[in-house]
Amino acid sequence: MAAHLLTCLLLALCTLSVSAEVFLSIDCGSSDSYKDDNLIVWTGDDEYVQSGESRSVQSSNSISRVMDTLRVFTARKKNCYNIGSVRQGRVLVRATFYYGNYDGKSSPPTFDLQFDGNHWATVETSSTEYVYHEVTYVMKKDSISVCVAQTNPGEFPFISALEVRGLETYMYVNVDENYPLFLRRRVAFGSNATIRFPDDPYDRLWIPEVMSAGMVRVRSDALFSKGLTLADQPPPAVLKNAVTAVTPNSSLQLSMGFPVVPAPVYVNGYFSEVTLLGPNQNRTYSVYKDNRSYSEPFSPPFENCTELYTSNLTASVNTTFSLVPANFSTLPPLINAMEIFVIGDALTNGTNNRDVKGLASLQKAFGVLQGWSGDPCLPAPYSWDWINCSTGPVPRVTALSLGSFGLSGILPDFSSMDALQTIDLHNNSLQGPIPDFLGTLPQLKTLNLANNQFNGSIPASLSNKNGLNLVVTGNPNLCTSCPASPKKSTDSSSAGCSKKESNVLAIMFGAIIPSFIMLQYLWENLL
Ligand SMILES: *[C@@H]1O[C@H](CO)[C@@H](O)[C@H](O)[C@H]1NC(C)=O
Ligand SMILES: *[C@@H]1O[C@H](CO)[C@@H](O)[C@H](O)[C@H]1NC(C)=O
Ligand SMILES: *[C@@H]1O[C@H](CO)[C@@H](O)[C@H](O)[C@H]1NC(C)=O
Ligand SMILES: *[C@@H]1O[C@H](CO)[C@@H](O)[C@H](O)[C@H]1NC(C)=O
Ligand SMILES: *[C@@H]1O[C@H](CO)[C@@H](O)[C@H](O)[C@H]1NC(C)=O
Ligand SMILES: *[C@@H]1O[C@H](CO)[C@@H](O)[C@H](O)[C@H]1NC(C)=O
Ligand SMILES: *[C@@H]1O[C@H](CO)[C@@H](O)[C@H](O)[C@H]1NC(C)=O
Ligand SMILES: *[C@@H]1O[C@H](CO)[C@@H](O)[C@H](O)[C@H]1NC(C)=O
Ligand SMILES: *[C@@H]1O[C@H](CO)[C@@H](O)[C@H](O)[C@H]1NC(C)=O
Ligand SMILES: *[C@@H]1O[C@H](CO)[C@@H](O)[C@H](O)[C@H]1NC(C)=O
Ligand SMILES: *[C@@H]1O[C@H](CO)[C@@H](O)[C@H](O)[C@H]1NC(C)=O
Ligand SMILES: *[C@@H]1O[C@H](CO)[C@@H](O)[C@H](O)[C@H]1NC(C)=O
Repeated sequence: MAAHLLTCLLLALCTLSVSAEVFLSIDCGSSDSYKDDNLIVWTGDDEYVQSGESRSVQSSNSISRVMDTLRVFTARKKNCYNIGSVRQGRVLVRATFYYGNYDGKSSPPTFDLQFDGNHWATVETSSTEYVYHEVTYVMKKDSISVCVAQTNPGEFPFISALEVRGLETYMYVNVDENYPLFLRRRVAFGSNATIRFPDDPYDRLWIPEVMSAGMVRVRSDALFSKGLTLADQPPPAVLKNAVTAVTPNSSLQLSMGFPVVPAPVYVNGYFSEVTLLGPNQNRTYSVYKDNRSYSEPFSPPFENCTELYTSNLTASVNTTFSLVPANFSTLPPLINAMEIFVIGDALTNGTNNRDVKGLASLQKAFGVLQGWSGDPCLPAPYSWDWINCSTGPVPRVTALSLGSFGLSGILPDFSSMDALQTIDLHNNSLQGPIPDFLGTLPQLKTLNLANNQFNGSIPASLSNKNGLNLVVTGNPNLCTSCPASPKKSTDSSSAGCSKKESNVLAIMFGAIIPSFIMLQYLWENLL
């Protein structure tokens, strides 16, 4: 009995630690859940996105079930997937795009891709191929957002698949964790098929290299039965294959796929001897950059792996890498796998937390606002459509533009948004008293509450505020002629409203009140 209990406990713990590692595969535009040939479980996207429309690619073009559907976005500056409650740590996020002529226009669009408020890539989709972008980074928050943003008129962003894979905290630590790594190439030399999950538990995609004239494919005898202790965890499957140069004294040119414009890059090479060498065999070589020695000579170990990396190099298309044999080497140089990343700009911490909090309470109160997710302000200029932001590394929300948004109900407390200069809430169905905190927002210059159902009276904090442009017209239940309500006015029916007082009070607030409204008040009060 006790033993059984113990087993249960252990199992529970194991399950917990596994499920804490995110391994999420979203089939965009689909509502189904299914397992693919790689044993990856895909899920529909309903719970991760609140905007856009689902579409199917032309069936004759279909590459795989995941690529059959997509979600397209025809409105808003940006549209985001939000994946909440992810254990904070290092993750790999991959977004895949397959146009498949879903709209019958044979016109694959170009648009921007973003994550967590950072610019990620310009996505150039293709009529015939799928394209994917992958970023590896250490999360700043416990959620992940991936957004697409329209950049060209008439070219609507879409997305076909979104994958998030948790990595170990000790992986890819050779680059400062404040910088994202954008994948350029991840090569499985000598392999004849892409290697991914389940061979790579982190589901990195290791792509076979196109063989060139100077390369020979070799298969490894290694079993890797003892496992590997390498920090970046190359899967044994990629070390089972390699390419070598043709003759012992020839070098191996590597195709790096560096960007055209010089950029900081991070390169990882993985080298594992493919056979147990005899006493008179020797494989020793060095990495050369631009035909000059760039590493010590080394001999890759059998049943183990040497990882060489360079983490702070500025490279471009003109930067070359090659493996050059030592003059005493009896075997040609060899390589099993390679990863090449561009190091991005420092990750943003996102919009100021006080604003994020205030916007969250607005979204909680008004369902129509819940379709907006991702970072509110970043990356500039792709803010949410109904706010304006200041510039700078930690932007503030300076304007709320919620006129004619169909908001109904009571205004929630968003007093933490203390950088607001403009609040436009006109032509909604907002009810209840005008909240007192609005008058305490230090930067507030314009407050338009026209054409709502506000009642009670105007708080003293607002009526006494210097230089405030206040508009309250078209609120039939609002008593503009009342003495400004004190801070804690509760009973609104007895708000000390004297209907006999002069309507001229309204002007004291500095409000721009069209004259016909003034007449309306006069007329009402005369009745
Ligand atoms: C691919 O490689 C595997 C193992 O290396 C081999 O068994 C298979 O025949 C190869 N397939 C092709 C098409 O070359
Ligand atoms: C691989 O080499 C490293 C470094 O020499 C060593 O610490 C590790 O034990 C080796 N692993 C195996 C499985 O032999
Ligand atoms: C490489 O070795 C071959 C013989 O194996 C020889 O013919 C050739 O000249 C050598 N090339 C160089 C560049 O040393
Ligand atoms: C190859 O030769 C070099 C130099 O003699 C030596 O340091 C190295 O250990 C040898 N490698 C192997 C695998 O025997
Ligand atoms: C390196 O050497 C090769 C062949 O010897 C040559 O074609 C190439 O231009 C050289 N590259 C650089 C950067 O010097
Ligand atoms: C990269 O190298 C430059 C100098 O070569 C140095 O100033 C910079 O701090 C390094 N950056 C990182 C992230 O190591
Ligand atoms: C690469 O080399 C070409 C030809 O030499 C040159 O025109 C180009 O400016 C170089 N690009 C960079 C980024 O250095
Ligand atoms: C090998 O190269 C080293 C220096 O790189 C040189 O001193 C040595 O003479 C060379 N040996 C042969 C056999 O060419
Ligand atoms: C983000 O916040 C961290 C600590 O909270 C700070 O060290 C870092 O400089 C900030 N980064 C930016 C870009 O503001
Ligand atoms: C918000 O920004 C847009 C674009 O820059 C501008 O046209 C608009 O006037 C701004 N609105 C407010 C309320 O500041
Ligand atoms: C008021 O808002 C509604 C949507 O809530 C809109 O249909 C209507 O046109 C707006 N009226 C004015 C005058 O802007
Ligand atoms: C104001 O409106 C709220 C909600 O609609 C209501 O509960 C309250 O009694 C009203 N107060 C006055 C003075 O009409």
